[in-house]
Amino acid sequence: MASSEQPRIQWLGRWGFVLAATGSAVGLGNIWKFPYITGEYGGGAFVLVYLACIFAVGVPVMMSEIAFGRRGRGSPIDAIRRVVNESGRSSAWSLIGWMAMLCGFLILSFYVVVAGWSFSYLWKMLTGGLAGTSVDDMAAVFGANNADPLNLGFWSTLVTLVTMVIVGKGVQEGIEKSVGWMMPGLVIMLVLLIVYGMFSGGFGDAVRFLFTFDAGSLSSEGMLAALGHAFFTLSLASGAILTYGSYLPKGASIARTSISVAVADTAVALMAGLAIFPVIFANGMNPGEGPGLIFMSLPLAFQAMPLGTLFGVLFFVMLSMAALTSSISMVEATVSWLCDNKGFSRRSAAWSTGIVLWLISTAAMLSFNVGADWTLAGKTFFDWLDYITSRWMMPLGGLGTVVLAGFILKNATFRDELGLAPLPYALWLAMVRYVSPLGILVIFADALGLYSV
Ligand code: PHE
Ligand code: NA
Repeated sequence: MASSEQPRIQWLGRWGFVLAATGSAVGLGNIWKFPYITGEYGGGAFVLVYLACIFAVGVPVMMSEIAFGRRGRGSPIDAIRRVVNESGRSSAWSLIGWMAMLCGFLILSFYVVVAGWSFSYLWKMLTGGLAGTSVDDMAAVFGANNADPLNLGFWSTLVTLVTMVIVGKGVQEGIEKSVGWMMPGLVIMLVLLIVYGMFSGGFGDAVRFLFTFDAGSLSSEGMLAALGHAFFTLSLASGAILTYGSYLPKGASIARTSISVAVADTAVALMAGLAIFPVIFANGMNPGEGPGLIFMSLPLAFQAMPLGTLFGVLFFVMLSMAALTSSISMVEATVSWLCDNKGFSRRSAAWSTGIVLWLISTAAMLSFNVGADWTLAGKTFFDWLDYITSRWMMPLGGLGTVVLAGFILKNATFRDELGLAPLPYALWLAMVRYVSPLGILVIFADALGLYSV
């Protein structure tokens, strides 16, 4: 086993990890998924539960995952096994690592389709294909982009290829450095859109929609969606953060980095909401429009603002790059596991993973055209990939992680690994033992209808 013989590669200092983890966290989840599911579940109450989940569940889970990665120095499976063995506990707990690895892989197989939308809208922007499209025609443009499997398949295949080339060459570091300018660029674009929104006549409605709620207005399904999205948006329980943590040097503060990643991720999501909903309300569009929401609304804003085409191009360039810094993190667990345990080179690990991924993602892509009728319980294959991972696998994996960290491991293990002062450590322990697991269990029980029987 290579990783126990030679020291594992490490990030260049604290910033390497922060950039990579931020690159992984900030992505389509913030800009595409957060607004559209907020729209579907009715706004404010959803946002509130989501924020509570980020800080009461997400941050403690992230700290635990990084601690597992750094202490175990390996892919989720190997790292968890080593750390539990160190406390004299059963290797069977590494099942949580298996689930995480599978989860990252399944997420990527629908994520490349969405990233493909971003790439294709970049292309449309560049070639003037969106100029003069009216509000009513936006849905038709989105529909037409999906209707042709060759067109949609071209874009999702391109994203799959680019992701695998980057991972296979092991040049993530270079990509992750781009986070240093891409992230500020994305924020500037969002500020621009927000300022535009302030003059669009829909800003007040947007703020009301996002930040006010009637008590009890959120469904059980909405709560589960908010919990699941907290995991998705922070790249948790999918192998990404844990594996990145396995490259983290000893001295870096796990608590501080986790909190900064969570704050940055949340800020980008809220800004995306403030950028998109004014356009929705000013144009009388439906906030519950679904996965096409940003692709139908943002081009309208770019059309109407000065230098709109330039800004539109820049926006979709940055969104596409943000998607890539996330997508490369989703397969890192699988690739590093294949390299450490199965003797694969990085390149062959990436290509083998890529072929399987391409098959599944192609099936997911077909959900928008020829496979639109291949549904089970009203959900397409694409919907199922999203639903299974976000709503169930990730919260379940997160539950396993906090139970391990809080109850199964010897206390000294993570006290030592986190290196916290007594008070913050006690706070973290209370979170992983009680607050996070109870939060997850209450929402699970509610979603399973256990309160209404
Ligand atoms: N956090 C990423 C986003 O918000 C998605 C992601 C999920 C990345 C799981 C890695 C692992 O877009
Ligand atoms: Na995110």
